[in-house]
Amino acid sequence: MSALTRVLAEVKADVAAARDRDPAAQGVSTFEILTSWAGVQALLAHRVAQALREAGVPLAPRAIAHLTRAVTGVEIHPAAKIGGEFFIDHGSGVVIGETAEIGERVTLYQGVTLGGTGFQRGKRHPTLGDNVTVGSGAKLLGPIAVGDGAKIGANTVVVEDVPPSATVVGNPGHPVKVEGKRVEGPDADWIHLPDPIAEAIKALSERIADLERRIADLDGGEKSGGEERRLRSRTGRSSAGG
Ligand SMILES: CC(C)(COP(=O)(O)OP(=O)(O)OC[C@H]1O[C@@H](n2cnc3c(N)ncnc32)[C@H](O)[C@@H]1OP(=O)(O)O)[C@@H](O)C(=O)NCCC(=O)NCCS
Repeated sequence: MSALTRVLAEVKADVAAARDRDPAAQGVSTFEILTSWAGVQALLAHRVAQALREAGVPLAPRAIAHLTRAVTGVEIHPAAKIGGEFFIDHGSGVVIGETAEIGERVTLYQGVTLGGTGFQRGKRHPTLGDNVTVGSGAKLLGPIAVGDGAKIGANTVVVEDVPPSATVVGNPGHPVKVEGKRVEGPDADWIHLPDPIAEAIKALSERIADLERRIADLDGGEKSGGEERRLRSRTGRSSAGG
């Protein structure tokens, strides 16, 4: 009975979180949210599956998780620990692994993976603090810790711990802001990283061009036909840096 009361209280808080954080849910009735918000449905099913798992009921928790994935596109392992006022916006494509732990008031958008990096056993999924937001398509891999209030940008791949109140973007994910301030420092420019291979090819290309000029001078004729091609410009935005 206490498990039922707990699950009902959790579901009530989750519906309130959807109304609070999804502008499209403003003024929408609880019944409508429960029947048409896939993220809320997946969470509701998870709350039940987890309670059954804790009560030692066999098979049913996995069956619920399996059916929920088919209906909502959200896969949450029944053992995953999820705090209150959790919200998955849009739902589809979210995967939350067995040993993932999620704090209070966390928001995930569609396509987020809280997964492992390989075939390890034991704790192998991320731990998210309170008030964390994870953008659509982001992958958080391994037993990393994401600090309270952190924001993970859409499509970011995070494989290392994230400090509290940091904004992390890119692949690999790196902080661009901490406590609302831009990250400064000698290695903060992820856009224009040095490229030693391109530098070596450029130096060789210049030497070949110089040799061709000298041969042409010795022959007393025109420079041989080898075309000197410019290397790709290194200015502009990088896909890694956003
Ligand atoms: C990361 C995010 C939360 C913004 O956080 P923020 O702290 O306000 O950060 P800013 O907008 O000031 O961006 C900081 C820098 O990161 C870059 N950036 C922001 N989001 C990025 C992303 N997803 N990928 C790569 N770079 C990103 C910005 O261009 C900016 O770069 P600059 O310093 O070169 O100008 C937001 O951009 C984001 O990705 N939200 C996810 C939203 C989502 O998934 N919506 C789906 C709705 S269906």
